[in-house]
Amino acid sequence: MRSHPLLLVALAVAKTALSTPTVGASIYQTHAESALESLQTFYNDSTGLWHSYGVSWWQSANALTTLANMVSLNSSYAQTVADHVFPTTFTQAQALNIKDNHHTKRQESTETPWTNGYYDDEGWWAMAWIRVYDVTKNTTYLDAAEGLFNDMTGGWGTNCSSQGLWWDKAHTSIAPISNALFMEVAAYLANRVPAKRDYYVGWALKEWAFMQSSGFYVPEDHLVLGSIDLQTCKPNPIGHGFTYTQGSLVQALTSLTHATGNKTYLTTASLVASAVIANMTKDGILTEPGIDQAHPGNDAPQFKGVFMRGLMALEQASSTTAFTQFAQNNAASIWNSDRSGAAMLGPDWSGPFYGPADASPQSSAMDALVAAWSASI
Ligand SMILES: *[C@@H]1O[C@H](CO)[C@@H](O)[C@H](O)[C@H]1NC(C)=O
Ligand SMILES: *[C@@H]1O[C@H](CO)[C@@H](O)[C@H](O)[C@H]1NC(C)=O
Ligand SMILES: *[C@@H]1O[C@H](CO)[C@@H](O)[C@H](O)[C@H]1NC(C)=O
Ligand SMILES: *[C@@H]1O[C@H](CO)[C@@H](O)[C@H](O)[C@H]1NC(C)=O
Ligand SMILES: *[C@@H]1O[C@H](CO)[C@@H](O)[C@H](O)[C@H]1NC(C)=O
Ligand SMILES: *[C@@H]1O[C@H](CO)[C@@H](O)[C@H](O)[C@H]1NC(C)=O
Repeated sequence: MRSHPLLLVALAVAKTALSTPTVGASIYQTHAESALESLQTFYNDSTGLWHSYGVSWWQSANALTTLANMVSLNSSYAQTVADHVFPTTFTQAQALNIKDNHHTKRQESTETPWTNGYYDDEGWWAMAWIRVYDVTKNTTYLDAAEGLFNDMTGGWGTNCSSQGLWWDKAHTSIAPISNALFMEVAAYLANRVPAKRDYYVGWALKEWAFMQSSGFYVPEDHLVLGSIDLQTCKPNPIGHGFTYTQGSLVQALTSLTHATGNKTYLTTASLVASAVIANMTKDGILTEPGIDQAHPGNDAPQFKGVFMRGLMALEQASSTTAFTQFAQNNAASIWNSDRSGAAMLGPDWSGPFYGPADASPQSSAMDALVAAWSASI
């Protein structure tokens, strides 16, 4: 890592903050702050990204979201880190995106420095900048999120129906994650841009209708399980039931209740969360279907944290404590069984820790610590 003067100052301050833990802080806050200190060893000042397996573009958006969530819980240590990271990532990551030309030039009128060829990547960055806006009230970040959403609308309408969002600008797939994220971003923007509330609620409702009519969302299971077969246009209910899709839907539905006042969406969000806990766990610890040490994939280590962010949003919105124990059990398992050294966390939350240590499993596991911390306040 380059010895950037600002970073050295930030680290020096951080060390001070950590050696004197916040009085009255829960054990989950203390653990999350230690894990943040470890996460920052992967942060690259010149790219504004956290290094992770392969390309770390969408994964870095998730790490940024985790950091913003910690700031939202009033961690002064996270605030110190964020004071450096938010503006650095905003400047450096977009410069990198422009330089590397992630753009595909299909939607030139709606391209921004943050857009690329993948609508799910755009959704992750939109959510990250929305959460950064929430804790800074700096509208530059909200504008970035609105620009991303605007570009995403260009992917609406597939060749299987006039509804639904493509996964990518090359139109190779119709995937549930991009659709769940599209709904989530629309619902979050509805609550933050009063002048365009109806516009964003309209998109969120349109997407929710598509998730149900397409077969993505299976009402008997309360889970998003399918993908769409491009040749037959029929749902193919195999291989897409990832935890991050359920977590994005939980956040989308929770936020939609906030935007519309209709509690039905919150009830459905709770049913989805309960179904994940019933179906995607082993001895009460969250697992990723089809993913293990032998088949880790480059992307999957990030997934489970997104579900924990969903639980956190649900608990905050409904003041339920139904999921508190689950969050705390997962946080304890990560800390006790899935940790290396001071605070490096691995992808298998049941443990044992396996490497390589990297920003992606680190920030994902941190989402569980942060959810447990949020529930303890
Ligand atoms: C940070 O990223 C730059 C640009 O990709 C790279 O040249 C540099 O080696 C990276 N630094 C570290 C410490 O990985
Ligand atoms: C964070 O601090 C703000 C301002 O003091 C307060 O309104 C908010 O309730 C606090 N949030 C938490 C989670 O403690
Ligand atoms: C808002 O964020 C942008 C991007 O990081 C930064 O350039 C600008 O100074 C910030 N504005 C304020 C008022 O802090
Ligand atoms: C939809 O487009 C894809 C290519 O993007 C193609 O492979 C597929 O056959 C098309 N399906 C239909 C039903 O037209
Ligand atoms: C709330 O949403 C549900 C599901 O879309 C719908 O059936 C119901 O009519 C809505 N209730 C109100 C009061 O709008
Ligand atoms: C989820 O678990 C419930 C209760 O064990 C079971 O009835 C249901 O079939 C499971 N669903 C899936 C998709 O595995």
